[in-house]
Amino acid sequence: MRTALVLGGTGMLKGCADELLAQGWQVVLPSRRAGSGPGSAALRALGGRGHVPQEAQGNQPTLVEADWSRPEELANRVRAALKAPADLLVAWVHASYRVPVLEAVAPLLAPDAPVVEVHDIGDINPREGVRDPILPGHPTQQVVLGFVRHGSTTRWLSHEETSVGVLEAVHRALDGKSPSIHQIGEVDTWAVRS
Ligand SMILES: NC(=O)c1ccc[n+]([C@@H]2O[C@H](COP(=O)([O-])OP(=O)(O)OC[C@H]3O[C@@H](n4cnc5c(N)ncnc54)[C@H](OP(=O)(O)O)[C@@H]3O)[C@@H](O)[C@H]2O)c1
Repeated sequence: MRTALVLGGTGMLKGCADELLAQGWQVVLPSRRAGSGPGSAALRALGGRGHVPQEAQGNQPTLVEADWSRPEELANRVRAALKAPADLLVAWVHASYRVPVLEAVAPLLAPDAPVVEVHDIGDINPREGVRDPILPGHPTQQVVLGFVRHGSTTRWLSHEETSVGVLEAVHRALDGKSPSIHQIGEVDTWAVRS
């Protein structure tokens, strides 16, 4: 069984994690809500709007209680949950934590495991564009989350739009495509200059 580590996979990337589970992956999800208290039951039953909690069926995620503010502890707990080095890393980690968290989990990845880094457009410095991948030893697809325009107004991407777009990057990564930067929704052109 292939193993994916999905950071931020209990939020808007839940659909992405669910699809990997449906494809038979072991999916490890670090989460602040993965403890043994009532919050963890709520998290296991987590679904989209209108979701009706049901008995757990099919391949279930491996939830690991962890916080990005303690990267070494997060890595140690993920290590304990892994059956083998992870074959894929998908990372939606807020900018202030991204470097320490990705560097902490890097030793848990198989040597050739691809990485999908997900960025919010608001975190990208217009003068610098998207930064180089944090883990240069791993082929990395970078995804920039933009916005959706409706006439004169804009909105953020829905969770589904985000997960679908990130899954496309996951498939490019697994197909061994060259590292590249992709946008979901509209992104000002300066943001994706490298
Ligand atoms: N451009 C865009 O379209 C765009 C970009 C960014 C955000 N958004 C919108 O903004 C909303 C909020 O974004 P968001 O990133 O706060 O929510 P999110 O992606 O829905 O959830 C945040 C994810 O990060 C995890 N997380 C957050 N802080 C953590 C920490 N300290 N340690 C461990 N895990 C942590 C959460 O895990 P646990 O809660 O399970 O611990 C969860 O998996 C989203 O729902 C989305 O609609 C849109």
